[in-house]
Amino acid sequence: MTGPESEGKQVRRAVCPGSFDPITNGHLDIIARASSLYDEVYVAVMINQSKKGLFEIEERIDLIHQVTAEYGNVRVESFHGLLVDFCKQREIPAIVKGLRAVSDFDYELQMAQMNNGLSGVETLFIPTNPTYSFLSSSLVKEVATWGGDVAHLVPPLVLDALRDRLTQH
Ligand code: PNS
Repeated sequence: MTGPESEGKQVRRAVCPGSFDPITNGHLDIIARASSLYDEVYVAVMINQSKKGLFEIEERIDLIHQVTAEYGNVRVESFHGLLVDFCKQREIPAIVKGLRAVSDFDYELQMAQMNNGLSGVETLFIPTNPTYSFLSSSLVKEVATWGGDVAHLVPPLVLDALRDRLTQH
């Protein structure tokens, strides 16, 4: 065994949660930056049964696996339930989220305070790279659905998956 655990040090873990339907370059930028700050980063694909996505959960996980493999310390899992329970079960003390704009802040602050009140887990915000400050999975899907160019907004693998999926529909 190598790494912090073998040296008797505590492993610093964080989670990047989301729907990731599909993962975008904005998500990837935050995951990459979290992976350079923590020993282990979990990407938690949260299951919301009331929201039918474009991609199945397993497809989302597979895409995230492939595009984060180069970081070497990113694990990808799905979860159904409260994010704080995901954190508790894996001894994760920190949630890392990207903040795109002030408009994100109100809801993110509510969730951060709720999660901290529920279990003491901390939320850390990383300012989104301005290149991606307008970016969301929903917009990518909408633009791609109508034939708009999203090649600069998602990893090439995701672009292929989007093209496949949208030509099937
Ligand atoms: O990518 P999204 O859809 O904006 O991500 C939102 C997500 C999944 C991070 C958020 O809805 C969440 O944490 N859901 C898990 C359920 C939960 O813990 N809800 C209470 C939040 S205070």
